[in-house]
Amino acid sequence: MKSVAICPGSFDPITVGHLDIISRSAKMFDKVIVVVLINSRKAGGMFSPEERVDFIKRSTAHIPNVEVDFYDGLLADYAVKKGAVAIVKGLRVLSDYEDEFKQALTNKKLAENVETVFLVTNTEYMFLSSSVVKEVGNFGGDISDFVPPEIKQDIIDRIGER
Ligand code: PNS
Repeated sequence: MKSVAICPGSFDPITVGHLDIISRSAKMFDKVIVVVLINSRKAGGMFSPEERVDFIKRSTAHIPNVEVDFYDGLLADYAVKKGAVAIVKGLRVLSDYEDEFKQALTNKKLAENVETVFLVTNTEYMFLSSSVVKEVGNFGGDISDFVPPEIKQDIIDRIGER
């Protein structure tokens, strides 16, 4: 049986840090599904779910065993539906840990056969998040090193429209 892993997130937008975790996951599992989910603690957002999916598709087009999806429900339910063995998350700094630990325990309670696997961030992406991209972009800073080149202009355009 082929191993399926889920890389979940809100991806508003995908960063090169996310892409690093997705690429590394794709070497560990036969198939990786990157799924855009709703984080109820992050209201609004700069991009629609459809735009986020499109950005991820364009940024991962070179990785053959990656699929991209949107799901408006529980991550645990989605993982079971897709027959996943693992949920892969990136850990950057210690402050990520408490929340990720709670999410992993909740997901384990809801789907006992799906393991959460944490990949430690590449040191060059320790500071990076979608919020940093939006903050730097909103103030006119250079986001070239923060996002995949395929989507950089879309982000700059959206900031310009606001
Ligand atoms: O990129 P994020 O915002 O840190 O990702 C968090 C996300 C979207 C994976 C999380 O909020 C999530 O799993 N949302 C779907 C709803 C769900 O399953 N909630 C229970 C997990 S505690």
